[in-house]
Amino acid sequence: MAIEAPATRPVNPRFSSGPCAKPPVFTLEKLSDAALGRSHRAAVGKEKLKAAIETTRDVLGIPADYKIGIVPASDTGAMEMAMWSLLGARKVEMLAWESFGSGWVTDVVKQLKLDAEVKLADYGEIVDLATVDTKNNDVVFTWNGTTSGVRVPNGDWIAEDREGLTLCDATSAAFAMDLPWDKLDVTTFSWQKVLGGEAAHGMLILSPRAVERLESYTPAWPLPKIFRLTKGGKLIDGIFSGATINTPSMLAVEDYLVALDWAQSVGGLVGLKARADANTAVIADFVDAHDWIDFLAVDPATRSNTSVCLKFSDDRIAEGAAFAKAVAKRLEAEGVALDIGAYRDAPSGLRIWCGGTVETADLEAMMPWLNWAFEAEIAAQ
Ligand SMILES: Cc1ncc(COP(=O)(O)O)c(C=O)c1O
Repeated sequence: MAIEAPATRPVNPRFSSGPCAKPPVFTLEKLSDAALGRSHRAAVGKEKLKAAIETTRDVLGIPADYKIGIVPASDTGAMEMAMWSLLGARKVEMLAWESFGSGWVTDVVKQLKLDAEVKLADYGEIVDLATVDTKNNDVVFTWNGTTSGVRVPNGDWIAEDREGLTLCDATSAAFAMDLPWDKLDVTTFSWQKVLGGEAAHGMLILSPRAVERLESYTPAWPLPKIFRLTKGGKLIDGIFSGATINTPSMLAVEDYLVALDWAQSVGGLVGLKARADANTAVIADFVDAHDWIDFLAVDPATRSNTSVCLKFSDDRIAEGAAFAKAVAKRLEAEGVALDIGAYRDAPSGLRIWCGGTVETADLEAMMPWLNWAFEAEIAAQ
């Protein structure tokens, strides 16, 4: 029997996993101070780019001797420039448990043609991190698998005295989870994820050992200008102080500064983590209370607090993929949850963003709608 529609609706129904909801305080007027129509190399532009770098350092607690660069092509650009610039010097292990990690495997195995050791796990699972030789090998992995909602629980599996480098795609982790900077040599993310900024630019964070590799190793393959981090064997320092490789969007920069300002206003990383955890707890309570839905992540220790992936588990469901799509469509049609269908390559289900820009009250208002949509779809089958 179909149930009655809930009385309360989320104020903001945006639960997309990227681009993610803008900070709750966001308005277009907040961007009025953008250095539009000015050169990004003029003092005003450079100051804003530098502020974006240094406020990132501040909020994420990135050590003073790490380099932070703003690079083209969002997180993908940052990851690919890192892999193309650094890999090939030693054996590399590629770890993947969902779509984006698999994309980096393709890059390294099929495009760079490196004889990498590839370790894969199915959606919902994670590779056995204890088998990774972080002491000797370069390792490429994704901190939070956005399309499966599975994250590494911590960095304990990474050797402190390692000789290889760790390359970490942290795009759906940064600003929601603790990242152990001493264990990460290359870290990347995009503004469009946890802070609800705009895509287009990526952040590339390098440890001193990553810089050392860049300055002592030249890859066997050609590098386009857009990937080049060194000149004459030396790091191009300007990239890490706001002199970008090519022209950035000053509108996107302003938007990121507004997001960082909001992040500081909610208590920085501690506040952002608490917001993401509280959001995830709303979903966990719902899952506990309903036996027809479960997390895709098998081990609770690996459960994401940003891209929360859910699967339906009810014998009455005739066709899983069609059912999940219909539930998401019903919620979207009601305007109570936008873009929460599972990622196209992932198992069927839902993916609900819980990063800090999402208000807990909106998730609380949305969950009864999920119950409503589920029952309506069961009745409609
Ligand atoms: C883990 C991960 N890596 C890479 C990307 C690609 O990011 P972008 O489109 O910002 O380059 C995404 C996007 O969702 C992602 O979740």
